[in-house]
Amino acid sequence: MRARYLKPAILASIYLGISQWSGAAVAQHADASNLYKRGLAATCANCHGTDGKGVVDGGMPLINILTSEQMLAQLKAFKSGAREGTIMPQLAKGYTDEQLEIIANQLGKK
Ligand code: HEC
Repeated sequence: MRARYLKPAILASIYLGISQWSGAAVAQHADASNLYKRGLAATCANCHGTDGKGVVDGGMPLINILTSEQMLAQLKAFKSGAREGTIMPQLAKGYTDEQLEIIANQLGKK
């Protein structure tokens, strides 16, 4: 008799436990995904400055003035060889199209 009343409570606590656990997993996944995106974009900072803001007297093109769309177009042009350059053609070839898209979304203007 008593067990019948307990069951819903046990089920509810199991449900809560699972939903909390999966919530944490989703949050952790979001963190890892953000870290991955930021990590990809950080590979550009040596030359173009943090977040593409440029380096004083760096002599490098300022890239944070481009929209994400414009930046992706340039990165793909470097990758395909449509646009020539000293550094960017080799560099762009090292990334998949998906990675270039992530980078352009991270660094370009919205
Ligand atoms: C070692 C230095 C270096 C690194 C690292 C670097 N770039 Fe470049 N970037 C250049 C240079 C130099 C140019 C001018 C084109 C050329 O000579 O390759 C350029 C040009 C560009 C342009 C064209 C700008 C315009 O005005 O059209 C974009 C966009 C760009 N880089 C994005 C990136 C992104 C995104 C990354 C990171 C994945 C990156 N760059 C990493 C040196 C660098």
